[in-house]
Amino acid sequence: MNARTLLMSALALQSLPAAPALAGDTAVGKRVYEEECMECHSINGRNKKGPTLVGALGRKAGTVKDYEGNSDAMKASNIVWNEDALNKYLAAPKKLVPGTKMKYDGLADAKSRMDVIAFISTLK
Ligand code: HEC
Repeated sequence: MNARTLLMSALALQSLPAAPALAGDTAVGKRVYEEECMECHSINGRNKKGPTLVGALGRKAGTVKDYEGNSDAMKASNIVWNEDALNKYLAAPKKLVPGTKMKYDGLADAKSRMDVIAFISTLK
């Protein structure tokens, strides 16, 4: 396999929506969710201040059904939420999506981000 083929398959792997085995710990991730995200995001399909996190992995940004609160910036971002995009957004929401309406400064701890992303990947 040459370098280009390797790179292509690495990219293809990265863009897979919900990888079956994410690096994070889903049980710890649930606690991170409860502390950091639950105020604004449900895990039962209903929208609160923010859109539900059910099905977030693999979904195009700004397209949750019946949620009206998305910023124009989010709708125009063309992001599809994979592990990498979520990791960047949760680290610094306003950096990845300038103009986002998510009033959250970011989750600084990389391990907590991996854990909460692993938890989100179980919400289908
Ligand atoms: C104070 C409320 C609030 C908190 C806390 C919060 N969010 Fe959000 N979130 C929002 C809002 C509002 C949006 C819509 C942003 C937009 O459209 O610009 C959003 C958007 C998102 C999106 C993109 C949804 C889409 O439409 O594509 C994801 C994913 C997300 N949040 C995950 C999280 C996670 C995970 C946490 C916790 C680590 C978190 N949020 C914490 C309010 C919040």
